[in-house]
Amino acid sequence: MNEEKRATFGGRISAVLVAAGSAVGLGNIWRFPYLAGENGGGAFLVIYLAAVLLIGLPLMISEFSLGTATRHNAVGAFRALNKRWAVVGYMGILSSALILSFYLVVAGWTAEYMVHSVTSDLVRNTDPASHVAAFEQFVGHPWKPVIYALLFSLATHLIIVLGVQKGIERASKVMMPVLLLVLVVLAVNSMLMPGGMEGLKFFLNPDFSKVTAETILLAVGQAFFSLSIGLGTMITYASYFKQGTSVQGTALQVTLLDTFVAVMAGLVIFPAVFSAGIEPGSGPSLVFITLPSIFSTLPMSGFWSTIFFLLLVLAALTSTISLHESVTAYVEEEWKMSRQKAARLTTLLTGLLAVMASLSLGIWKEYTICGLTFFDSLDYLTANILLPLGAFLTCLFVGWKFDRTLFAQQLYPNGIMGREYPILRFMIRYICPIILFVIFADNLGLI
Ligand code: PHE
Repeated sequence: MNEEKRATFGGRISAVLVAAGSAVGLGNIWRFPYLAGENGGGAFLVIYLAAVLLIGLPLMISEFSLGTATRHNAVGAFRALNKRWAVVGYMGILSSALILSFYLVVAGWTAEYMVHSVTSDLVRNTDPASHVAAFEQFVGHPWKPVIYALLFSLATHLIIVLGVQKGIERASKVMMPVLLLVLVVLAVNSMLMPGGMEGLKFFLNPDFSKVTAETILLAVGQAFFSLSIGLGTMITYASYFKQGTSVQGTALQVTLLDTFVAVMAGLVIFPAVFSAGIEPGSGPSLVFITLPSIFSTLPMSGFWSTIFFLLLVLAALTSTISLHESVTAYVEEEWKMSRQKAARLTTLLTGLLAVMASLSLGIWKEYTICGLTFFDSLDYLTANILLPLGAFLTCLFVGWKFDRTLFAQQLYPNGIMGREYPILRFMIRYICPIILFVIFADNLGLI
């Protein structure tokens, strides 16, 4: 497809907003706090921050540069530069479809909680045990969560077929500032809760004694998941950037924003967890049992709860859109299909997998893969294997195969190299791949 015909986002601010819309989502507010809670709190936070800075940022810049240089989807981008490396693109498309499948399930939960904030006494109950029970009852329900996941899939589909510019940009522009504001208000409120300081200590005081090779892999995987990198989403999005959009400026802002939201989510969750006597290692249910406990202590609890879950739904939606878009753009461009058809195919496939993932937490609980439910295995396979592997290969490609002049042109369109260039290149060529290799080797027990 030539450049003229391809849709573009409206400029610098839009590029930041849509990329941040992809990055900020359930990864920050649902996945990050529960992983931190299960893996030592502060220690996890420190490793996570190091991973974001050392690998996440250089990798996002790398993916952006592949997108702006080729103006193609993830597979097309690699193929245009070097046929053999198209396999990294294929891996990314697979990861996108698999992530979307279980992501829709959790997104459905947030939609359900939003509806219940308005209609039921979800937030009027002050006893954490009742929130645990309510969560388990909902997630295990034979059909309700399935319906919510499918509705979410449908909403994503509609925005995708409305087109890149109108749908995605409009959705991202409104919600981001409001989400940030509400998070700050809630964080302050949580820290003022009785016993909240204990939670703050847990989250901010690193205790490295519990850190294992697996903890490091989990933190790195979470960094990729949260930044939407290692699977070509950012390649696809950057292919829509307007000429002259700053690659490294956009990457830096998106990374900072995404990290800020994750840290704020921790500051909202952990003080409340300790204040209400909830177990920080509760796993994927953590946010869903902690948030209602927070809201129940607030005046106008239903109002806060509704606003918050509405924002969470929107944050999740801008992320499902980006996942869907990666797959749709691939099918549309590589299989030469109409956008409508490509989107329909993507929705059907991921919708079906989402139904299976949802049921695997309820009536299909007994069926497990290596001891994990289908839902958990999708999560584990993508975040801890496919994304780090995709990231590793992308670094190798951009560092060693991608024409260095073409790379530099993406970063410095006016020809004046910035001072950070040699450092960045060194990170991409050596530091990132070596760190990722060591983490893998360590987890496989090779070193
Ligand atoms: N980054 C998103 C989140 O944190 C999830 C996502 C992962 C989106 C990969 C696109 C690609 O919720």
